[in-house]
Amino acid sequence: MNLDLNRIRFVSLREKIMPAEQAIQLIKDNMVIGMSGFGGAGEAKTIPLALAEYAKTHPLKITFATGASLGNKIDQKLCEAHVIARRLPYQADPTLRKAINAGEVMFTDQHLSETAEQMKHHVIQKPDIAIISAIAITEDGQIIPTGSVGNSAIFAELADQIIVEIDRTISPDLEGVHDIYIPKARPNRGSIPLTQVSDRIGTQGITVNPDKIVAIVFNDLPDTSASMAEPDQETLAIAKNLINFFEKEVEIGRLPQNLGPLQSGVGSIANAVFSGFEHSSFTDLEMYSEVLQDCTFQLIDSGKMKFASGSSMTLDTCADQVMQNFEQYKDKIVLRPQDISNNPELIRRLGIIAINTAIEFDIYGNVNSTHVSGTKMMNGIGGSGDFTRHAHLAIFVTKSIAKDGAISSVVPMVSHVDHNEHDIDILVTEQGLADLRGLAPRERAREIIDHCAHPSYKAALNDYFDRACQRGGHTPHILNEALSWHAKFEEQGHM
Ligand code: COA
Repeated sequence: MNLDLNRIRFVSLREKIMPAEQAIQLIKDNMVIGMSGFGGAGEAKTIPLALAEYAKTHPLKITFATGASLGNKIDQKLCEAHVIARRLPYQADPTLRKAINAGEVMFTDQHLSETAEQMKHHVIQKPDIAIISAIAITEDGQIIPTGSVGNSAIFAELADQIIVEIDRTISPDLEGVHDIYIPKARPNRGSIPLTQVSDRIGTQGITVNPDKIVAIVFNDLPDTSASMAEPDQETLAIAKNLINFFEKEVEIGRLPQNLGPLQSGVGSIANAVFSGFEHSSFTDLEMYSEVLQDCTFQLIDSGKMKFASGSSMTLDTCADQVMQNFEQYKDKIVLRPQDISNNPELIRRLGIIAINTAIEFDIYGNVNSTHVSGTKMMNGIGGSGDFTRHAHLAIFVTKSIAKDGAISSVVPMVSHVDHNEHDIDILVTEQGLADLRGLAPRERAREIIDHCAHPSYKAALNDYFDRACQRGGHTPHILNEALSWHAKFEEQGHM
């Protein structure tokens, strides 16, 4: 039996195999397309790349929804071909970022758990076509996802038509790692029956009506691996500050020895923090996160981590090792839809420690994760809000300065708010850690300036705060000065 056909075990569907150039004819101007892909893992590739090529001579516009960011320069190529009218819920591509900031592409920057909810409840348009990346279609027509689940299950459920892209680069051994559970629509939802990080509550594949599958194409392009900056002096210091804090919390008895389930944003700081766990005293660590990075698998290999739940595996240097030996990770990993990995009900229930990265935060604890100088979109809020608002401990980390010191990441007032002062428990820079729990705004300001600000900006922050306090208020500010640091940076290139 041809190995490729073997991946389509629902035999009658083999009639739907066609070249990508034929399948893209199903995609029409103004359609909503929902596509697999999360953090550069498990995206469909053949179809969007063929569409980008076709659109150069046959212009069309689509609303393009995925799980999160994509690899293989797909956003770049679709953007250059002017295919994307609207993009949601997240992106991290420089070309698309430029088009968004120029107002050429409308970007609906959403909490990652919310796309599925809003489509299901008819708040935003559901997909006309779902493009689902799969390692196989089973005998009973279930679609088995690849290295991410993301929004694939809800897109497949709601779309009128489904194009399946069988990814020949992904080992069939991944079958069994996914857990597909789709919460019912409100008001008859009931509770989601997950009480432990390792619980399996759904099916191994995405259950669809096979009649909706209108095309099957094959893909041979691998996921592009995430490239991770090596830890530097600052990220290592941030990790150390955080690990010291956790050790004290365990000592006092406020956290268990395994800390409880951990969530971490992607990026070099998160990677450094998790690498720090390697040499810590913590054992039996668990993750309930959205992206599982290299550090997750390294902690599993060293016996420090006992289970990790996510929606995507975004791997860098250990990609080949993990994929070639996947059987040994299968009972320690589960991949879920992102409205389950990022579900506020579950995050509150499980008592998650959420660690995310800020662009900047202010002296009262408001955090900006998305907008440079308050106007220019960087990537999007991603899952940071899903986790932060409902976490047992909501932590943000960042370096205290950016652009060689021209920017202070601790400012009098953030230029854009993604996470507000009421949600934030702990702020960490390489300078130290501010514990904001139970503090009033004036107390928080002292804690943040003392422990997190860079020495070169400390005096100016103290001066601002002292003068603001003289004017009074629960959260003292000098309004015509609060954003002057950002304005000065724009005018003079230095805060
Ligand atoms: N003002 C302006 N620019 C700043 C800045 C500030 N206060 N702080 C950092 N930057 C710049 C850096 O200089 C860098 O610029 P460059 O790309 O030109 O080098 C860029 O922002 C990224 O900063 P870096 O320190 O490399 O951090 P990162 O790669 O970890 O990214 C975020 C930080 C906040 C942009 C990123 O974590 C993000 O998009 N977060 C939102 C989504 C999220 O939290 N998801 C979590 C669940 S996965």
